[in-house]
Amino acid sequence: MKKLVIGNWKMNPATLDDAKKIIKKTRSIASKLNHTDVVACPPFVYIQSAISKRDPNTLKVGAQFVSYEDGGPHTGEVSATMLRDMGVKYVIAGHSEERARGDTDDMVARRVKAIVESGMNAVLCVGEKARDEGGVYLETLKDQIKNSLANIPQSCAKNIVLAYEPIWAIGAKEAMIPDQVYEMSLFVKKVFSDVFNQDQAMKVAVLYGGSVNFRNAAEIIKTGQVDGLLVGRESVNMPGFVELLKAVDSIT
Ligand code: PGA
Repeated sequence: MKKLVIGNWKMNPATLDDAKKIIKKTRSIASKLNHTDVVACPPFVYIQSAISKRDPNTLKVGAQFVSYEDGGPHTGEVSATMLRDMGVKYVIAGHSEERARGDTDDMVARRVKAIVESGMNAVLCVGEKARDEGGVYLETLKDQIKNSLANIPQSCAKNIVLAYEPIWAIGAKEAMIPDQVYEMSLFVKKVFSDVFNQDQAMKVAVLYGGSVNFRNAAEIIKTGQVDGLLVGRESVNMPGFVELLKAVDSIT
């Protein structure tokens, strides 16, 4: 299976000109990779310029957020149908920054449902706020995953990517150590298997996110045994992201 690297640009960069530069560079390096799929998730306003009608596959485009409503009086919202119609292939749901602004598991589950039912791939973000000696965080994480996948039809499981992002490692100095990433990737797969089944869990892509950069990316994938990465800051930091993609692509 190819590795999957998803760039979550967050609210960056400040101008369309800079967004175009990042897309151009990212697409150019993505076209040279043999073992890695690359997805860029810019802010909504840059999505149209990020999508290439001629070559939609070299660099797939994702969105960072979506409404669970399908239209109507919802000021400021964007629907899954609108995103799909633009050519968006992936949508992030349940990012910790959205959860911190009030997204509940129930709302996240509704977003995931809207995304997969409209034929796109949902990047479901899950992760614990902090760790405790007694391992209570594992129970909390298990509930978070189960509740964020509530009412998702079995047939849509193949359109879900699980992004494990321990909140304490997001925007931090250091990523989680790769051995722990390995333990957690097994854990989230097990919960996915409880929700759907073992067969789906074998196929689901699990990504790690949280302070990934060009130095630690390859080791996190190799030792952490994850299928890819969800990258924040480094995805808009051009020399770094190019190096990161090269490093990931050269994993044998
Ligand atoms: P970071 O963000 O790579 O800047 O830590 C990751 C994320 O929030 O998805």
